[in-house]
Amino acid sequence: MIEIKQLTKQYGSLTALDHLDLTIKEGDIFGYIGPNGAGKTTTMRVLATLLDPTSGQAFIDGLDVTKKGNEVRCRVGYMPDFMGVYDDLKVFEYLEFFAAAFKIDRKKRQGIVEGVLELTDLTSKKHFTVDSLSRGMQQRLGLARVLIHDPKVLILDEPASGLDPRARIEVRELLLELKRMGKTIMISSHILSELEEICDQIGIIERGKLVFDGTMDEIRKHMGVHSRIKVEVIGDPQRALDVLSPMPQIGSVTIEQRALTVTFSDGQENNGFLAKALVQGGIDIVSIEPQKLKLDDAFLELTKGIVN
Ligand SMILES: Nc1ncnc2c1ncn2[C@@H]1O[C@H](COP(=O)(O)OP(=O)(O)OP(=O)(O)O)[C@@H](O)[C@H]1O
Ligand SMILES: [Mg+2]
Repeated sequence: MIEIKQLTKQYGSLTALDHLDLTIKEGDIFGYIGPNGAGKTTTMRVLATLLDPTSGQAFIDGLDVTKKGNEVRCRVGYMPDFMGVYDDLKVFEYLEFFAAAFKIDRKKRQGIVEGVLELTDLTSKKHFTVDSLSRGMQQRLGLARVLIHDPKVLILDEPASGLDPRARIEVRELLLELKRMGKTIMISSHILSELEEICDQIGIIERGKLVFDGTMDEIRKHMGVHSRIKVEVIGDPQRALDVLSPMPQIGSVTIEQRALTVTFSDGQENNGFLAKALVQGGIDIVSIEPQKLKLDDAFLELTKGIVN
């Protein structure tokens, strides 16, 4: 649904995007991650037809964004990282304004506005002014706005930034609902662990280049990071460490707050041998719990904080 080929954007001598290749499949939620200045907003602005690339191509639904601007804009809902200022407008006026801008038939406008208010749970705020809404509600209003013309593709630049945990969960639920409606969603964020649970694909960008593209499982594999296992035992954890650390299957064992964190050496997948070894060593186990590698860890490993 979104296809980027060798996309390059120069701002003077600064290369914001450097021969970027990226494909996003129809119906996927794609998480776009990278440190400040990596080029996320630049990519999204090119896709939204707001910025011309220096070279390379980008297609949405098969349409070249630099050549078929109008057709692309009908298919894309772009939510920028900062909301415009329309503070003295009421919520429904704000949405009707955008409905008019998209040339939606006057008779249909009201129904559409009510529909998106309902979807974003803002119906009760219809007659409030935009500036009287909380940050989370404004974010939802931003989403309501990009849904007005029922686009197939949503490009959302940090829609969860500045939200409290509850509001973030609400945004996440809303995104999943939009996915169920069949939308393709590209979303950038710094709240990495939030993306982990909703994204089908993750792309990590650094200095205008994609350093990784794949599923969370693929990120884990790619990094060769074996899952960590947390082991709790009765008595002194040092005894368990002494049993485990000489074993060839074990990569490392550390003790933290009386629990052991174990990693395996290459090729070792199954943790069944752990319990056996501990029992044979006369150690009573409280729990053996595999820990998932968090997206934040993967991100820190992959991008070493190098920015433009
Ligand atoms: N209009 C502009 N003129 C000059 N340089 C720009 C312009 N817009 C962006 N840049 C530069 O391009 C690079 C990429 O910026 P971009 O906004 O795409 O990054 P980002 O990944 O969205 O970062 P953030 O996480 O901070 O939002 C940065 O070095 C930035 O300074
Ligand atoms: Mg940005």
